[in-house]
Amino acid sequence: MNDTLRSIYGRSSVRKYKEDKVPEEDIREILKAGFHAANGMNRQAIEFAVMENKNSRSKYSRKAISRLAEEAKAAGHSNPMIERMAADPASDIFYGAPAVIFVFADQNAVTPVEDGSLAVGNMMLAAHSMGYGTCFIGFAAGLGGDDEFLKECGVPDNHRYIASMILGKPDGDIDKHPRSDVRVLKWIK
Ligand SMILES: Cc1cc2nc3c(=O)[nH]c(=O)nc-3n(C[C@H](O)[C@H](O)[C@H](O)COP(=O)(O)O)c2cc1C
Repeated sequence: MNDTLRSIYGRSSVRKYKEDKVPEEDIREILKAGFHAANGMNRQAIEFAVMENKNSRSKYSRKAISRLAEEAKAAGHSNPMIERMAADPASDIFYGAPAVIFVFADQNAVTPVEDGSLAVGNMMLAAHSMGYGTCFIGFAAGLGGDDEFLKECGVPDNHRYIASMILGKPDGDIDKHPRSDVRVLKWIK
């Protein structure tokens, strides 16, 4: 198996991290790998914010959880997992990872969501190949509507939140989440 396939099959979402800071040059390499992903018409319309500060991570985790709870309430859904997280001040959507990478995109990008998602995919594989763990954090999406967060991340007015990914050294064994067989609906030859 080649190194690329080894990275693809070896990666798993990591939800327990050591506190050790990720060296800046490693984060920059991972961001670069993200920026090298395919993107609509090569507009290169995505940008990143890196959050390492513990107080900021904790503040925005709380804010994201509050938003999730508000959204569930407004939609009339009761979601026990979100209710548990909202009730527990120690809940952390970022799992204590020492770095969170947020991806934003210019509103005028041709394919902002696709571009940002492909960037996260690249960053996950790059990080894994460098011995780091990652996890996509969809729970953070509500931060895209939080003015304080957007301002703190330096996001210009005409740009929008796309995704977030946590990064750090895994603490302990990593659970492998198996896949079923690939489903090919039809092979039209
Ligand atoms: C769009 C997206 C959003 C996700 N959001 C979260 C999240 O908020 N919290 C979390 O713990 N995992 C999140 N995950 C990780 C998935 O749960 C994980 O990828 C899936 O269970 C498969 O496991 P694996 O990544 O280890 O193969 C997200 C994954 C994707 C692609």
